[in-house]
Amino acid sequence: MSEPKKLFIKSYGCQMNVYDSERMAEALGAEGYVTVDSAEAADMVLLNTCHIREKAAEKVYSDLGRLRPLKTAKPDLKIGVAGCVAQAEGEEILRRMPLVDLVVGPQSYHRLPAMTKAVEGGARAVDTDFPEEDKFDHLPERPARAVGPTAFLTVQEGCDKFCAFCVVPYTRGAEVSRPADRILSEARVLVEKGAKEITLLGQNVNAWHGGAGGLGALVRHLAAIDGLERIRYTTSHPNDMDDDLIAAHGDCEKLMPYLHLPVQSGSDRILKAMARKHTAADYLRLVERIRAARPDILLTSDFIVGFPGETEADFQATLDLIEAVGYGTAFSFKYSARPGTPAAEKTPVDAAEADDRLQRLQALLTRQQKAAQAAMVGREVKVLFEKPGRQAGQITGKSDYLHAVHAEAPEAMIGTIQRVRITRSDPNSLAGVVTNLP
Ligand code: SAH
Ligand code: SF4
Ligand code: F3S
Repeated sequence: MSEPKKLFIKSYGCQMNVYDSERMAEALGAEGYVTVDSAEAADMVLLNTCHIREKAAEKVYSDLGRLRPLKTAKPDLKIGVAGCVAQAEGEEILRRMPLVDLVVGPQSYHRLPAMTKAVEGGARAVDTDFPEEDKFDHLPERPARAVGPTAFLTVQEGCDKFCAFCVVPYTRGAEVSRPADRILSEARVLVEKGAKEITLLGQNVNAWHGGAGGLGALVRHLAAIDGLERIRYTTSHPNDMDDDLIAAHGDCEKLMPYLHLPVQSGSDRILKAMARKHTAADYLRLVERIRAARPDILLTSDFIVGFPGETEADFQATLDLIEAVGYGTAFSFKYSARPGTPAAEKTPVDAAEADDRLQRLQALLTRQQKAAQAAMVGREVKVLFEKPGRQAGQITGKSDYLHAVHAEAPEAMIGTIQRVRITRSDPNSLAGVVTNLP
């Protein structure tokens, strides 16, 4: 028998890329590829890329540059670019980077096996269509092998919101929901293969409409699967948080008390310029309703500072909103002008000013994160252990609130949910003791 071909995939960007990378590995697995964990060991390298900010896109080109010596030493090495940079730049990548053999956009992954064959035969291949057919219907049933205790499941793709700063509607195309029955059968297989927790993914996951009822109804159907213990979803748009989904946070025990609800800014003027289609007060009212359904829910968000036209007063309104909400943690980014988006035409905020605001924003968010973690000390929480810890004798996992928790416990507890009393808060994790250990 001949040696199996070896595939190395690197994922950039969001969790949807992580999920897609798994599906691509499975599709190429059916073509005789096994995955390896370095480019050096591979016959084919696939970079699953992100275009969201300039830095993310530039990283891809510098990583490609770093693959050059490898390709020179091993001319048979095939190099592919997938994901959002592939979609945004298409053939341009082949022109700029002669070492690239294959460019495939996020909606064309089901065509990857055929493209790979062409590339193995010496051709260069590009596919950045938004085909009629659903890629998921043409990818192998998944997963073939055992999975870890936590799994991702994409239920919705694309975005019709067109926020003024964002490339996603262009790189991922229009909103499409996968049908409920496909999602439920994939979830059942994931659970059979070892998953205890499933995170539903979508660029606008709560706009899902692949069956009767919205995402709330889907969550309740999933909750009926025996052996599935925890459900999460990400990323939600505030305008798509409907009554039933909010109610599910109160009455569906398997839906975890954690919600990533990006707001971007606390200034109505900037929210309008961003085309977010809600005000700061709308968002605060929504937060109140969610907390009425689930008082202990931990909220997180994304923020952009230095959006064109943002004044110090606008920025102050963002700090005020953060103070009013109280986040468990949040991601914050300096605005990056993206080619083809409406905001890219506008005059940027002074770079030093934007840097300064980002630092002030992050200082406030760090204080809130510390406070939220400190509030866990002394409490008993449930933790799904996922893997061995960094120190011998330790295992690590996530609490219901998605805090990373380390504890001294036997490795046999990996893959199980245990009650843990939190004893200490460290900068990005909690430490605790499993309460039912002898
Ligand atoms: N669909 C999600 C966001 C996906 S992008 C949502 O609507 O919330 C993830 C985050 O990247 C965004 O929430 C935003 O904060 C940030 N982001 C997107 N475009 C950006 C840009 N041009 N510059 C800086 N940050 C950006
Ligand atoms: Fe981008 Fe806005 Fe769509 Fe989120 S909702 S993916 S920020 S356009
Ligand atoms: Fe990046 Fe595309 Fe995700 S731009 S954030 S990889 S949808």
